[in-house]
Order: sequence, then C-alpha cells, then structure tokens
Amino acid sequence: MGVAFKVEDLRFRYPSSKEDTIKGITFDVLEGEVFGLLGPSGAGKSTTQKILIKLLDDYTGSIEYFGKNLKSLDNSFYEEIGVGFEVPVHFSKLTALENMKFFSGFYRQTVDIQGLMERVGLWEYRDVKVGEYSKGMKVRLNFVRALLNKPRVLFLDEVTNGVDPKNARIIKDMIAEFRAKGGTVFLTTHLMNDVEELCDRIAFCVNSRLVEISTPRDLKLQYGKREVKVEYRKNGAIASAVFPLDGIGFNDAFQRLLQTEEIETIHTGESSMEEIFILVTGVEVK
Ligand SMILES: Nc1ncnc2c1ncn2[C@@H]1O[C@H](COP(=O)(O)OP(=O)(O)OP(=O)(O)O)[C@@H](O)[C@H]1O
Ligand SMILES: [Mg+2]
Repeated sequence: MGVAFKVEDLRFRYPSSKEDTIKGITFDVLEGEVFGLLGPSGAGKSTTQKILIKLLDDYTGSIEYFGKNLKSLDNSFYEEIGVGFEVPVHFSKLTALENMKFFSGFYRQTVDIQGLMERVGLWEYRDVKVGEYSKGMKVRLNFVRALLNKPRVLFLDEVTNGVDPKNARIIKDMIAEFRAKGGTVFLTTHLMNDVEELCDRIAFCVNSRLVEISTPRDLKLQYGKREVKVEYRKNGAIASAVFPLDGIGFNDAFQRLLQTEEIETIHTGESSMEEIFILVTGVEVK
C-alpha cells in the first residue's frame, strides 16, 4: 500500500494571525485508508485540509503526495482529488443539475451525474435552484460534487453535518464503497459515530498539534477499562455488577450471576469515541 500524503513538521500561520494555526504536525495518509482528523472547533482541521488541497501554500515543513512534493504539482493534481468543503459551495441561482454540469466541465474524467444524484436522493430535485435547497440537500449535493471527477483521494470536511440519519447512512455507505474500490479518504468531523464506522485511523488535533494517531478500536481498548458490567433484573428493579475481564471464564461469581439472574445487558468497559475525544482533547463533544 502506498502513501497518499506524507506530512512532516507542517506549520502554518494565517497572514492576519499572530500565532501559528498549525504548529508542526507529522502524519501519513495511506493509500486506500479512511484517515480521520478530529479535534475541537478551531483546532485547525479545515486549515489542514486546505493546505493538503493546495489552497493555502505558505506553509513550512514538507508534504508529499504519492512521493512528489505537493508544491511542485500543477493543476493536474485537481483531476485526482475530490473535495467536499465544510461550507457547500454552489451557484444558488443555478439548478442543482446545472451546478453539477458546470463543475464537471472542469475535469477530463467525469462520472454519471444522474447515478450519483439518484443515489443521494436529489435527482428528482435536479431542476430546483440550489438557493431553494434545504441545508441537508446542499450538503448532499456538495458530496456529489466531490465525486464528479472520479477522484483518487477524497477530502471530506464535516460531510454529514446537517444531514438526516437516512441520508447520512447513504453518504457513509458511499464513502465505504469508495474506499473498498481502493480510494483514499481524508475526513474531518465532529461526529463520533461517523468516525467509528468509517475511519481506519484517526488523529486528534489539539492546540494545533496532533496526538494519538491510532485505530478507533485500539483507542477504545487503550482508554477503556478491562472489565465486564452485567445488568440484571432483581425484584423488579435493575441491578448491576462489575467483574474484571481478565479470567472472566473462570470467575465463579460471574458464572453464578449468569445462571441465576435475569440478565438484561452485558458490556465490556471499552470507552466510547465520545469519552476518548473528551479525554484526549479536554473538550466536550458538541
Ligand atoms: N482565513 C483565516 N484567517 C485567519 N484565521 C483563520 C482563517 N481561517 C481560520 N482561521 C483560524 O484558524 C484556526 C483554525 O481554524 P479551522 O477552521 O482550521 O478550525 P477547525 O478545526 O476546522 O474548526 P471547526 O471544527 O469549527 O470546523 C481558528 O482559530 C480560526 O479562527
Ligand atoms: Mg472546520
């Protein structure tokens, strides 16, 4: 598996800012993985995405895209990447279909727009002006736009924000399919469910630095407790008992409980992604 992005000691400061927004971060995005960048509001996630897609180039440190210096790449780079911006960018006076046709006109290689719009439930609204679209519809159209050029790498900034659960499901399935076909995804989000479902590896951006680059599963185990909690019904009320996970197969009290009580739930003590986010970043998930 190749390396899509190799980022070393990346630093960046907005011209209007007194401080660095990105304070020296190092990470790789592997080809074929979904890499999630998480972190509290203002941590620098969108800025990092903008740097990787060459919208901001006044950075220090090095960024390689499939082994080539990002700064040396010409506009053909944009043939290979698909970008879903945090704030959907469309022409509100044009219809959704006119928008998609306009944007796909920039690319050599394009997809079947109808197929994509059908998939996200927008084909029947193709002739509606985007200005009349709801927030969720704009976000879905934004996602379609990111896929128009059959990208090799997909950048998605808060891609399911403001989308109802049914449509979020469709978008997440499409991301998983994109990855299954070998596509690489760089994703930023606040939504911990998305992270757990989609990301192969995640990095937390805290105070403009990166911490904890790992898989969701390893993080859950690392931050969790090695214990088993059993909830059962006793005299009409819920009771619970906690046992150490180690040696659980030989734990007599645990076995007895299972045999004698009316068990309602059994859970191991791994942390939820929300808990990990709070532990790592010190910030509550919104
Ligand atoms: N164009 C700009 N000029 C100056 N400062 C900016 C600019 N854009 C962003 N910033 C600042 O850079 C910091 C990082 O912003 P960024 O949008 O990257 O954060 P984020 O992690 O994406 O946050 P969110 O979760 O709210 O989307 C913030 O302090 C923000 O105010
Ligand atoms: Mg952002």
